[in-house]
Parts: sequence; C-alpha cells; structure tokens
Amino acid sequence: MALKQPSRITAPTLRSRKGTSTKISALTAYDFTMARLIDAAGIDVILVGDSLGTVIQGNSTTIPVTMDEMVYHCRCVSRGVERALVVGDLPFMSYQSSVERALESAGRLLKEGNVGAIKLEGGVHMAATIQAIVSVDIPVMGHVGLTPQSYHRMGGNKMQGKGSGDFAGSRDRVLQDALAVEEAGAFALVIEGVPAELAKQITDSLSIPTIGIGSGVGCDGQILVAQDMFGMIPDFSPRFVKRYGEFGAAMVEAVRAYKHEVESGTFPAAEHSVSEGQAVKSFPIGVRARRK
Ligand code: KIV
Repeated sequence: MALKQPSRITAPTLRSRKGTSTKISALTAYDFTMARLIDAAGIDVILVGDSLGTVIQGNSTTIPVTMDEMVYHCRCVSRGVERALVVGDLPFMSYQSSVERALESAGRLLKEGNVGAIKLEGGVHMAATIQAIVSVDIPVMGHVGLTPQSYHRMGGNKMQGKGSGDFAGSRDRVLQDALAVEEAGAFALVIEGVPAELAKQITDSLSIPTIGIGSGVGCDGQILVAQDMFGMIPDFSPRFVKRYGEFGAAMVEAVRAYKHEVESGTFPAAEHSVSEGQAVKSFPIGVRARRK
C-alpha cells in the first residue's frame, strides 16, 4: 500500500498557478525550526532569502552574504520542509561575474542546499545567465524592481519603477526587466518595491506568476520576510509589512518569566527533574525530532 505523501509544490506546479483563483503564498525562512512551522501552515513557497544578511546576521545590507552561508541555511531549511517549494537565493557576486560562476553557484544550492529552485536579482542584464541556468534544468525565479543587492546603485533600498525614461529603475526599465526574465525561461518572478499599478501591468503582461513584496495586491502572490510579519523586529515596521503577530514582545515576556523563575528557584519544578531510582521513559537532552 502506497504511503500518502503531502503533495509537494514544485517549480512546474507553481508555474501552473498563473491565472488560477488562489494566490501564491510565500515567506522567507532561514532555519529548520521556523521552516518546519511555516511548512506545517501550508505556505506554497519558502524562500531562503539573502535577507538573512540583515535578519539573521545583523548587517545593514544583503551584500556581505556568501555562498557558503547560503548553502548552510538552505540545507537547514530544506530539512524542515515536506510540502513547500524551497527556493534558495544567489547572493551578491555569486552569479554576476560570469555565466560559469552562476551555473556553479546555482548548482551548489541544489546539490548541497537541497532546494527546488534558485532566485537571482536582475532583468535584461541577467537574461543570458537565467537562460544558461534554466538550460541545465535548474528552475529560476527572477527578481526585479527594488533589488537589494543594487543598494549602492539605488542609493538605499528605495522604491523603483517611478518615472518614465531610460534610466535604471525607471518604470519602462522595470517592465523590460520583467519581460526579459520571462523570455529567458524563469518560472516565476518576484516584484519588489514598485508602484501597485506597475506591478499589476507586469502581472497582466506575463504568463509566469508574479510574487509581490511592497508592490500592491495585483500580483499573483505575495512574499514577506517571516520575522517582519511575526513582529520580531520591533524597530522595523515599513508600510508594506503587515504584522500577523507580536512574537517579539511575546518572546521578551517569556524570557522575563523564565529569568524570574530561575532567580526565584521555582524552575525547574519536580516534573522537570528526575530523582534517583525514578523510572522515566525517556529524558532526551539536546535531541530534537528530525524528519530527515
Ligand atoms: O532576500 C529576500 O528575502 C528576498 C525577498 C524579500 C523577496 O529577496
């Protein structure tokens, strides 16, 4: 008798969601525990974003993130996921210098990070690279508009796609970038930080699904950084983020309660301890249930 498996989301199944009535839900994750919880909730896509450079490492941009770090976090996340499509981000300068470098980097995220697809930033200038990666059967998710790896060119993480003309980040250029990513063979496209009207126009022009962040409701799906929507970063609440919890405050409260009980000697209580001669079924220390 065949065991019933949760039906895994793949790049082709995600691609086929274009034009269907249910929008694509996506969140970032960077570790096993969080990925497992997010997957259990039935999210479609888990992105191991290079946003880990800011959220996990505490840098001010994503630029310092390395390939080894991305591989490590992709592996951690993949171990916790049964259903969602896990997408790994290519970090800055792991794909821009040559197509060969890009192929190696993308291959590492699949072989060592166990992801089902990779994401990279850029449009027209990245089309040949996307094409090459897709040609070796690695599904690519594009990313246009506000591309955080272009921090210094943009002069900060600023809204893109405003103003017509032929300059980087203009309305026309973002549209051209999106079309180039689709033409190059990407299966989906992240549109970050552009006006809602432009994101809707791009979504209507493409046959691959768009996943928006800070780009309005007209996309085929939405993505947020998990820590932002969990309310875990108290001093970061930009307009595009909706907090679905206040877990940061709840964690501080929990730590305060723990500290108080440790200091007052009320933790550990009898049920958290084993007495000499007491029979206990198991008392695992430092061991967590693992799926794979
Ligand atoms: O790195 C990241 O988390 C991202 C998403 C915010 C789209 O690129």
